[in-house]
Amino acid sequence: MSWMTKILQPDTAVEKMKQKAALRALEEVRDGMKLGLGTGSTARYFVDGLGAQVAEGLNVVCVPTSQATGAQAESLNIPMASLDDLQRLDLTVDGADELDAELRLVKGGGGALLREKIVAAASDKMIVIADDTKRVETLGAFDLPVEVNIFSHGATAAAIGAALMATGNAGATVLRRGQGEAPFITDGGHYIFDCALGKIKDAESLAQALLSVPGVVEHGLFLGYATAAVLAGADGLQEMGQL
Ligand code: 5RP
Repeated sequence: MSWMTKILQPDTAVEKMKQKAALRALEEVRDGMKLGLGTGSTARYFVDGLGAQVAEGLNVVCVPTSQATGAQAESLNIPMASLDDLQRLDLTVDGADELDAELRLVKGGGGALLREKIVAAASDKMIVIADDTKRVETLGAFDLPVEVNIFSHGATAAAIGAALMATGNAGATVLRRGQGEAPFITDGGHYIFDCALGKIKDAESLAQALLSVPGVVEHGLFLGYATAAVLAGADGLQEMGQL
C-alpha cells in the first residue's frame, strides 16, 4: 500500500484518531463509485487518502460539499462532477459535530450544512467519520446551526426563537461571526444562527418547525441520512450501523 506513505502525517493523538476513522471509511470505496466528499478536519483526511489512491489508479468521481473540500480535491487531482450531472451518489463520507445512538446528527460547525445535506440526501449510503467525543446521548450540547437568507435575518431570528419555544427547545440564537465582527457567510451566501439548546427535545418536530420558518434555508439536524459511523477513540475504532 504505497499510497499510505503519501498521506498526511498528523502529529497529535486526536488528529491521528480522525485519520484512522477516515481511513476505515476509505476501505468502503470501490472502483467506479460516485462519492460525496464531506467538509471539516476529519473529512479532510478522507479526501487526502482518496487523493493518494486516485494517484495510484483508483477510478471515482466526486461531488464536494464545500468550496474548501473542492479546492482540496482539485489539488489532489480527484475527478469531480456536479450533482446535477450525477443525480445519485453511491456513498458520502462526512464528519459530524454530534451523533446519537440512532445515527442522528448535528452538523454545520464548519458552515457547510446546506451542501452537506443536499449531497447526503442524494447518497445511497452516508458514513460519518469522527473521533468518539462526538458521540452523545442526547443531541444539542453543540449549538445547532441554522442557515438563513440574509434578507431580514433579524426577523428570521425572532421567528426561529418562536419555533424553538414552540417545540420546547428555548435557547439563545446567535449570529455566527467570521473574521472579526463580520457575519460568517456560507458558500451559498447565507448567514448562520447558532442555537444553544442544551438537550434537544423531539428532534423531528424541531426540524420541521425550523424548516417552516420563512428565511430558514436549512438546519443542521441530519435525521435519517447517516447509514453508518466510524468513531475513533483511544481504545481503537467503534463502528455503528451498516458499513
Ligand atoms: C461542516 C461539518 C463538519 O462535518 C463538522 O463540523 C465536523 O467537523 P470536524 O471533522 O472538523 O470536527 O458539519 O459543516
